[in-house]
Amino acid sequence: MRVVVAGSSGLIGTSVVAALRGSGHEVVRLVRRRAAAPDERGWDPPAGRIDAGALDGVGAVVNLCGAGVADKRWSDSRKQVLLDSRTVPTEVLAAAVVEHGVPVLVNSSAVGYYGDTGDDVVDEQAPAGSGFLAGLCRRWEAATSAAEGRARVVRMRTGLVISPAGGLFGKIRPLFALFLGGRLGDGRQYMPWISLDDAVAAIRFLVEDDEVSGAVNLTAPSPVTNAEFTRTVGQALHRPTPWVAPAFALKAVLGEMAEEGLLAGQRAVPRVLERHGFRFLHPALGGAVAAAVER
Ligand SMILES: NC(=O)c1ccc[n+]([C@@H]2O[C@H](COP(=O)([O-])OP(=O)(O)OC[C@H]3O[C@@H](n4cnc5c(N)ncnc54)[C@H](OP(=O)(O)O)[C@@H]3O)[C@@H](O)[C@H]2O)c1
Repeated sequence: MRVVVAGSSGLIGTSVVAALRGSGHEVVRLVRRRAAAPDERGWDPPAGRIDAGALDGVGAVVNLCGAGVADKRWSDSRKQVLLDSRTVPTEVLAAAVVEHGVPVLVNSSAVGYYGDTGDDVVDEQAPAGSGFLAGLCRRWEAATSAAEGRARVVRMRTGLVISPAGGLFGKIRPLFALFLGGRLGDGRQYMPWISLDDAVAAIRFLVEDDEVSGAVNLTAPSPVTNAEFTRTVGQALHRPTPWVAPAFALKAVLGEMAEEGLLAGQRAVPRVLERHGFRFLHPALGGAVAAAVER
């Protein structure tokens, strides 16, 4: 199948492109600059423009776009960038999917959709929560609406991706290696995580499986608390984790991002993936962290 991938240069996108090609799909990458390689097509989301012919004969569009949520402090203007870099490309792609009769749109969202859910187990039926991230995810998912009913639309609510190459785990790993690992706040907040291998395999599964549509949690079946996450990473790196980053200090330094991104959590489970028979390579955090550390 010919698959168009947007956001293909990112942590997940790079591996998704390789995995789709590895299983025989033809991948076309949408790039936000002039296309320079045979597999590239240009697009300009704010202008609503996609190179002519980019969606011809395409069987699925995978959208992995978005400015980094944890890259900068959330000023009002940064929040607007986080929102626009997700809703605008999604709206453009949803309209293009309809215009060109593409049968499948697999679009990113995040577990932040649920807000802070404490100890409650949340599956895809749970309602949207409150706060900036939940509102962002709600609007991000709503941006697919033009394609609903016209294509099979999947809204992936992804958890923290465990990868040696980047993301939050890539950032905190050097701290742990320097004996600076520790829990965040009281450590009781749940962290829904997924290994990069499983995130990529799940995206391929969602492209290929005709039956799945709607919201899908891309999270491992065993979310852990931040305290357990910290212990597991420490054990994998053979480092003690005695430190505690107090909630007040995190809020003082990182503001709202700390409150919603680090001190709040979701005990999210992948009900839809499991119901459709998806098999996780790394169902437990220890194996996922060990695999990331070995690379
Ligand atoms: N990694 C995680 O733990 C995680 C967790 C939950 C949800 N997600 C979501 O999953 C998607 C992929 O995640 P990732 O970790 O691969 O992200 P990433 O490494 O930050 O890559 C995102 C890609 O989005 C594109 N992008 C960046 N700024 C943009 C902007 N202003 N407008 C439009 N596109 C922009 C870029 O691709 P191009 O330069 O090729 O256009 C970039 O490579 C994102 O939507 C992210 O929010 C990730």
